[in-house]
Amino acid sequence: MFQAVGIGSKIAKASIAIFDSGMGGLTVLREVVNLMPEERVVYLGDTARAPYGSKSREAVLRYSIENAEFLVGHQIKLLIVACNTASAIALEHLQGLFPFPVVGVIEPAIERVLRETKRQRIGVLATRATVASNAYQQGICSRLPEAMVKAISCPLLAPIVEEGLVGHPVADLMIESYLGGMRDEQVDILLLGCTHYPLLKEKIAAFVGEDVVVIDSAESCATHVNKLLVELGMRELSDGIGMGAKFFVTDAPDHFREHASEYLGDGWGELDVELVSTKA
Ligand code: DGL
Repeated sequence: MFQAVGIGSKIAKASIAIFDSGMGGLTVLREVVNLMPEERVVYLGDTARAPYGSKSREAVLRYSIENAEFLVGHQIKLLIVACNTASAIALEHLQGLFPFPVVGVIEPAIERVLRETKRQRIGVLATRATVASNAYQQGICSRLPEAMVKAISCPLLAPIVEEGLVGHPVADLMIESYLGGMRDEQVDILLLGCTHYPLLKEKIAAFVGEDVVVIDSAESCATHVNKLLVELGMRELSDGIGMGAKFFVTDAPDHFREHASEYLGDGWGELDVELVSTKA
């Protein structure tokens, strides 16, 4: 049976913890808070060591363990590995380390793909490390052996989002360049397998056309977490108890504060952001 850390029987009141390589995981946090506004959330962005998408497996695994160990100290009941790259590489290891549920973004997204695909032709966009891990490709094909999965790494899309260039022509140019070949694959589902891509969802959807269902892993993950917490009897449902978010970053808290609204949307006010070190 899962247990929340350090709070005895008051499991529901403990926090949902989320970590990402940086700010991109705020797209997951946004979906979590939209769906579960009563929950308290703690977020760690490993901004000192981002991006993870171009790092080795060993480095991503080590960073992920350090991030999780840091968050364990904050009365948590569930951990979301919001980073697709860290989910692809470190999720199983983390699940073996802790007594509470550890949820990644890949499995919930795959489950949604399996539910929604009609023609079993699936496109995946992700970082280089996520594509190289084969996590999405294997996860889909092991359950849908007939499926055609075309995974493309899009290393410049995350920096475009980070630089605030979502509305700039360079974003359209790169989408066209990465997705040009995808049109010939006749996919019916396009899965956005990176934390940053939900911010480009409208543009990507417009490019691939209305016959293609565009799924992002942030939304699928939040839906999965909500269901899991209810099933485990760990969901906080009392009005006005949670509704708090605490943010930790390993570098540049001012930059995080200034740019968070690009990922979270408006209405958050001044964020409570603290600079920390996660190294053991
Ligand atoms: N968070 C990463 C992911 O979802 C994207 C940014 C990075 O490379 O760190 O894969």
